[in-house]
Amino acid sequence: MQNPAQHDRLLIVDFGSQVTQLIARRLRELSVYCEIHPYQNVTETFLDAFAPKAVILSGGPASVLDANAPRPPERVFRLGVPVLGICYGQQVMMDMLGGRVTRGDGTAEFGRAYVSPSEERLPLLDGWFAGEDGREQVWMSHGDHVSALAPGFKVYGTSPNAPFAVTADADRNFFAVQFHPEVHHTPNGRKLYENFVRLAGFTGDWTMAAYRDEAIRQIREQVGDRKVICGLSGGVDSAVAAVLIHEAIGDQLTCVFVDHGLLRQGEADEVVTMFRDHYNIPLIHANEAELFLGQLEGVSDPEQKRKTIGRLFIDVFQRHAGDIEGAEFLAQGTLYPDVIESVSFSGGPSVTIKSHHNVGGLPEKMGLKLVEPLRELFKDEVRALGRELGLPQGFIGRHPFPGPGLAIRCPGEITRDKLEILRKADAIYIDQIRRHGLYDEIWQAFVAILPVRTVGVMGDGRTYDYACALRAVTSVDGMTADTYPFTHDFLGETATRIINEVKGINRVTYDVTSKPPGTIEWE
Ligand code: XMP
Repeated sequence: MQNPAQHDRLLIVDFGSQVTQLIARRLRELSVYCEIHPYQNVTETFLDAFAPKAVILSGGPASVLDANAPRPPERVFRLGVPVLGICYGQQVMMDMLGGRVTRGDGTAEFGRAYVSPSEERLPLLDGWFAGEDGREQVWMSHGDHVSALAPGFKVYGTSPNAPFAVTADADRNFFAVQFHPEVHHTPNGRKLYENFVRLAGFTGDWTMAAYRDEAIRQIREQVGDRKVICGLSGGVDSAVAAVLIHEAIGDQLTCVFVDHGLLRQGEADEVVTMFRDHYNIPLIHANEAELFLGQLEGVSDPEQKRKTIGRLFIDVFQRHAGDIEGAEFLAQGTLYPDVIESVSFSGGPSVTIKSHHNVGGLPEKMGLKLVEPLRELFKDEVRALGRELGLPQGFIGRHPFPGPGLAIRCPGEITRDKLEILRKADAIYIDQIRRHGLYDEIWQAFVAILPVRTVGVMGDGRTYDYACALRAVTSVDGMTADTYPFTHDFLGETATRIINEVKGINRVTYDVTSKPPGTIEWE
């Protein structure tokens, strides 16, 4: 949205590493505008048009020793800008610039390693090796390794298994490292990127205030005096998109909030109050609980649930949007991770684990053009933009909530009774987490009501009620997740509150499954 041509731009050439997105994250944290492009798309013409101020060559699963190994165009090294090669990027750089790479002898190096500096210091490593033992922890993940340096290169850091851990041709500002500075397990990796962008002359001009102003200008230019519809889900992304668009074009925007009756306690009111009353944004509150719950009656298969909800959502949205005369645009809170075209080495589509619920397909069906003002942003940048737009912190910091809502937290058949019990238990659990000051440490927390009843004893009587499971995970992006390590005291106190305060639950369990092999949601 923000016209990238007005910013210093860094190009990340993607060779298919699992962690390429993290490179972009680290750079965005440094207020540097960067884009990830798969190596196949990076032609000489592309390079000239993109005009990067620096280039990073990512890691990847290929071997430069294979026929047809992926390579960037030679021109990358003739642009006169700093280049940083990471892992596979290091190898491809050495290979193309006249060094040598040797095939791993089957003993791939994977995991933690420690790099020590050489005599001569490199500005890329300013601030490194300051700890007591003079070494830096890094994260290695590679099979092949560099065995001879390209002319002009020297070694600036070594590890016991990687004599060429950090190499550079300092005169040309070409840097090549064998480890991954972008991952969490290279604790001082950020410093390395900071040095790299400083050497490249970036000024750190990518800020949310600038983004907001530029985005508003572009929305006005794109939309003119025409009308926009925006589907609100109650989540952060669509809310930030809506408020931003409203700032740009005011009442030319109408929001449609499809309430499928599968929201959490108080959620529908919160959304309606915030948008209609607080922001004065024209809002259609489509209360369609009857329709959704009616169609979900007797459905217990997770995929069938998801598909039913997805289909109804589109029908309802279309019906209400049809009432807004002359609407030509549909606004979506699409984020950068959804846009990045990642390199697929296997070629085939990946397995569908769950059919995700979104408004995909709507624009074509309704003949609408898209407005996607968050396309260049990562999740935490959306939160920063939300803050810039004055959205309440309590709303911005909310845990993600899935489109199909409570339906996928109610394994088996969904009934109104079960949903009511689930809402109450969930509200207590979240209240507990907030009271203990843990909400912001957790990526997502919720209760799932289980399709079993168990026997209990309360007072002098027998109970035969539902069991529920508490779930809380930490994660960076929802792709992988660890369970949150609550104390036994916290779990015990929460279980007691739920059982005492929620009629219908007499047993509470804690789900300790990481992702993988589990998923975050139960269905
Ligand atoms: P899973 O359960 O696949 O969830 O590990 C990963 C993240 O995605 C959310 N999720 C969804 N979000 N529509 C959404 O908008 C969906 O259909 C959907 N399914 C799962 C989930 O809450 C978690 O944050």
